[in-house]
Amino acid sequence: MVSTESRTFRVAVAGASGYAGGEFLRLAARHPALEVGTLTAHTNAGARLGATQPHLRSLADRVLEPTTPEALAGHDVVVLGLPHGASGEIAAQLPDDVLVLDLGADHRLASAADWEKFYGSAHAGTWPYGLPELLHADGAGAVTGAQRDHLAGARRIAVPGCNVTAVTLGLQPGVAAGLVSPADVVAVLANGYSGAGKSLKPHLLAAEGLGSAVPYAVGGTHRHIPEIVQNLRTAGAPEVSISFTPTLVPMSRGILATVTARLAPGHEDATAADVRAAWAAAYADEPFVELLPEGQWPTTAATLGANTALVQVALDAAAGRVVTVTAIDNLVKGTAGQAVQAMNLALGLPETAGLVTEGVAP
Ligand SMILES: NC(=O)c1ccc[n+]([C@@H]2O[C@H](COP(=O)([O-])OP(=O)(O)OC[C@H]3O[C@@H](n4cnc5c(N)ncnc54)[C@H](OP(=O)(O)O)[C@@H]3O)[C@@H](O)[C@H]2O)c1
Repeated sequence: MVSTESRTFRVAVAGASGYAGGEFLRLAARHPALEVGTLTAHTNAGARLGATQPHLRSLADRVLEPTTPEALAGHDVVVLGLPHGASGEIAAQLPDDVLVLDLGADHRLASAADWEKFYGSAHAGTWPYGLPELLHADGAGAVTGAQRDHLAGARRIAVPGCNVTAVTLGLQPGVAAGLVSPADVVAVLANGYSGAGKSLKPHLLAAEGLGSAVPYAVGGTHRHIPEIVQNLRTAGAPEVSISFTPTLVPMSRGILATVTARLAPGHEDATAADVRAAWAAAYADEPFVELLPEGQWPTTAATLGANTALVQVALDAAAGRVVTVTAIDNLVKGTAGQAVQAMNLALGLPETAGLVTEGVAP
């Protein structure tokens, strides 16, 4: 019998000309158990991959096919790096025994009402959620497990949103431990431009963005809000209220999420050491989430190209708030690396296969 670890899995990537699909291919090209099969696109169908992803040298001569179920057939794994709303229909036409990883939002939310409110279209359904480190907690301060326990053997995985990953990883230890109040969370993020995808929009032009920091989706409208609420509930929060404000800053990759929350009732006297202990316990055994040494703050530069989330936490005693800062590369731990990590778990491969924690610096 061939063991899972020595098998090769053939992967197709839809949306291979986009940022998320391209990043998955960068990781797939060096993954020990993946063989890259069909690549598809939309307006770029018929072009060489090298024309849209000039950094993917080993795949440069592959020709992009139109995105159809027929083109995606005959693979063990299919990755959908498509705009939200486009993956539901195509996924429904793929066989049940194929592992489908949706990098888009279509299958992340459990609530159809939340989907319709924030995305304005029909809900495509809910898949197992691909954030392995998401804590499951009982709401009384006890951690009962993590999302990775639910991914073995999965054949449909909804890969989390990039902002959602940063905010969830930053705050969840305090929520799961019952130390912070999820009823008063404030998150402000600095975001690199690749988070917006490759399609041409005037406000994403270099002339608009270089030398400027630009807030967007202000006032409770960002589509990642219900997904963050869903995660914090899984981490034990009874009710969540979050003010969430992303800001585009002139960098191509990276998210720096600053998330603050009040100390929970009954924990107002918690010390900085109490707070740090909760975060340290949550991430002690995580291969990709690291609580930095005290006093060292995360930077996006330290995560570029890596599947790493760097986290720091402090107590602002005067304000009665816990402050967390988390840095990730939106295209790696925020998308494609996270997808590989969840895929590894689903296929029975080592969770860390094909992934690195070392970033590209300076
Ligand atoms: N960028 C990130 O940091 C990030 C992070 C997390 C999740 N995601 C999610 O990943 C998905 C892809 O994002 P992205 O940033 O890679 O976007 P992108 O750079 O704009 O790429 C979109 C891809 O989808 C293809 N496409 C566009 N419309 C299509 C349609 N109607 N049918 C089939 N294919 C279509 C495009 O093909 P052509 O180029 O040929 O037109 C392109 O390959 C989105 O759902 C996004 O929310 C992105």
